[in-house]
Amino acid sequence: MLNGRFITFEGPEGAGKTTIINMIADCFPEAVLTREPGGIEIAEQIREVILDKKNTAMDAHTEALLYAAARRQHLIEKVKPALEAGKMVLCDRFVDSSLAYQGHARGLGIEEVFSINRFAIGDLMPGLTLYFDIEPEAGLNRINKQEGREINRLDLEALDFHHKVREGYHMLLRCFPERIVKIDASKSLEEVFEETLKIIKERGNKKV
Ligand code: TYD
Repeated sequence: MLNGRFITFEGPEGAGKTTIINMIADCFPEAVLTREPGGIEIAEQIREVILDKKNTAMDAHTEALLYAAARRQHLIEKVKPALEAGKMVLCDRFVDSSLAYQGHARGLGIEEVFSINRFAIGDLMPGLTLYFDIEPEAGLNRINKQEGREINRLDLEALDFHHKVREGYHMLLRCFPERIVKIDASKSLEEVFEETLKIIKERGNKKV
């Protein structure tokens, strides 16, 4: 089941999606703004384990299962109650991150990772997913320039990994053309913001 009020933001590191989602949230003060992995206490604790730079021994399946576990808890505690109360939910990353990062870039398989995520989320999918597309080199350059941004375990992956992440998102765009909309994130922040807002106004409240 697609929920039209549930909008997710996706993209590689440095695409600017976190900045944009905050700007969008200012336009919809009644919306619930949240993020993955995290968003609630238990999921934030799981996030610390996943992203800890010390955990270099983490197996790819373990990583995928932890993301799915954090997703389940966040969905039950925060996303579902908000949607049931009639609110709009803006979520920084959701299941497509697992499909692109763990499914494609880590090589676990998009269908395999989707199957463990179906166990986690049931049939609740976003009605609209905004994918912020940028060349990995440009994205990583932006991150390196951001003062105070914490570098996590996935940021430290080789450039090749980030190319695969982008390739994974491009595969998802082909699999879910109705749900996922691609936005060129190499443009100026203002242009990206205007385009995002326009798409949400056109599509976000439509019944799906
Ligand atoms: P975060 O600091 O939130 O990154 P960003 O600001 O780019 O969203 O860290 C989240 C990291 O976790 C990011 O590298 C993407 C990765 N990730 C996955 O690999 N799979 C997932 O399912 C999710 C939700 C995130």
